[in-house]
Amino acid sequence: MRRGWFITFEGNEGCGKSTQIRLLGAALEAVGRRVVSVREPGGTAIGERIRHLLQHAPEGAGLCAEAELLLFAASRAQLVREVIRPALAGGAVVLSDRYLDSTTVYQGVARRLVRAEVALVNGFAVGGTVPDTTLVFDIPAEVGLQRVAARAGAVPDRMEQESAAFYEAVRSGYLELASTDPERVRVIDAMESEPVVERAVRAVLEERCNGLFGN
Ligand code: TMP
Repeated sequence: MRRGWFITFEGNEGCGKSTQIRLLGAALEAVGRRVVSVREPGGTAIGERIRHLLQHAPEGAGLCAEAELLLFAASRAQLVREVIRPALAGGAVVLSDRYLDSTTVYQGVARRLVRAEVALVNGFAVGGTVPDTTLVFDIPAEVGLQRVAARAGAVPDRMEQESAAFYEAVRSGYLELASTDPERVRVIDAMESEPVVERAVRAVLEERCNGLFGN
């Protein structure tokens, strides 16, 4: 059996990636693909506990950047071995809402940890399981934050309480990543309407993932 496809979705807060994962998942299931959708941090029982610590638990308030990096990495290491690798080996399409590029950008660029050290931790956590294609949903940081604030019952989590400069750094980190690894990382203009973004996603995947849509 052909190994499946591994596609990751990245971007700033409020960029609309989760909606696009749902739309793409439905489109792929309609052509008979088995789709496994996961999110980071989380996606396993252990990972969801780590997510809680990172985003909502009161103890998270005192988390240092180094411990934060390792917790994101721990969640990912578990997800890779428990869910992603078995799914890919079984021929599924894995759609991940964030993956190692989030760490590169949030912890390496925006938190300013030493990038080579972040890369080392990332490499250890994923052990060679790298996405076939990564879509970066690009949006001005301020617009994304307004979208998040407008969500029904929105209470900002720990990662949504940073300064505007932090999210600007996230945005430029992603754009830099796309320019250094243009084969894998593609930028999608997330300011466009939902159907336009959906078509852009499909166009990239038709070009990058041969046979994904059954053509
Ligand atoms: P989200 O699930 O709503 O996208 O929230 C995840 C938050 O965690 C988001 O602010 C990005 C952040 N994050 C990191 O800082 N590093 C990481 O490695 C991952 C996966 C997420």
